[in-house]
Amino acid sequence: MSGAIPKELRLDHPDLDRQHGELFGLLEAAAAAFDLGDRAELLAALARFTEALLTHTAEEDRLMEASLFPDRGRHRQAHELFLADLERLRLEVEAGGATPVVDEWLRLRVPEWLRFHVAVNDTKVAQHLATHRATPSRAARRPARRPS
Ligand SMILES: [Fe+2]
Repeated sequence: MSGAIPKELRLDHPDLDRQHGELFGLLEAAAAAFDLGDRAELLAALARFTEALLTHTAEEDRLMEASLFPDRGRHRQAHELFLADLERLRLEVEAGGATPVVDEWLRLRVPEWLRFHVAVNDTKVAQHLATHRATPSRAARRPARRPS
């Protein structure tokens, strides 16, 4: 599912922008599932969002590593903390279904985190990517061995 990404969150990096749009769309779908009050549906929507986020953060990690983005350790840690929060949210849904706490997470905390992360952290990654080419991996740089 693709969602519209607010203009101020556009990074001018087509892949990251598309993935961010998808994440916002999946988050809206999870909020819509909340409104249905069906726990299984809500868990499935949350799982789709989490899966897309895992794919996305793995792609960002790869880009940061390949371009030697200086702050990649801290950035990766922010992803991990967010994923841990999402796991807590999943447990909350499993235990209580569509509770007011889950409502607050889906409509406020998670979208706010996502907006903040894109605007502050991912913007720096995109700026770095625009000026730094990916460095070849060590394996690729290693000269070919001659047969002895
Ligand atoms: Fe990120």
